[in-house]
Amino acid sequence: MVEAIRYRIKVGEVNEIPKEIGKTVKIGPLEIALFRLASGEIRAIENRCPHKGGVLAEGMVSGDHVFCPMHDWKINVTDGKVQAPDVGCVKTYEAVIEDGEVIIIL
Ligand code: FES
Repeated sequence: MVEAIRYRIKVGEVNEIPKEIGKTVKIGPLEIALFRLASGEIRAIENRCPHKGGVLAEGMVSGDHVFCPMHDWKINVTDGKVQAPDVGCVKTYEAVIEDGEVIIIL
């Protein structure tokens, strides 16, 4: 059986990430939008809107969703799904908080 290699990348202290304000994180060629929700949980998604490439880290956060800053598509930051009436999805990444640090697992 072949096991996939998983990388754990520290991307900053959780206290440095304001709640409900997105942060852009670059890991090699990947650009990730990191969000700290009002609940304190961390979410990480692809930082590119599937509509026309809006930068999602610059969007307004409400609950479990971000609104794309370009044309207001609503995207769930947990499962990456675009909400109706629009359609599409963005990639999601596993993110955890350990000892006050945010770690993205790829
Ligand atoms: S680019 Fe995001 S809604 Fe148009």
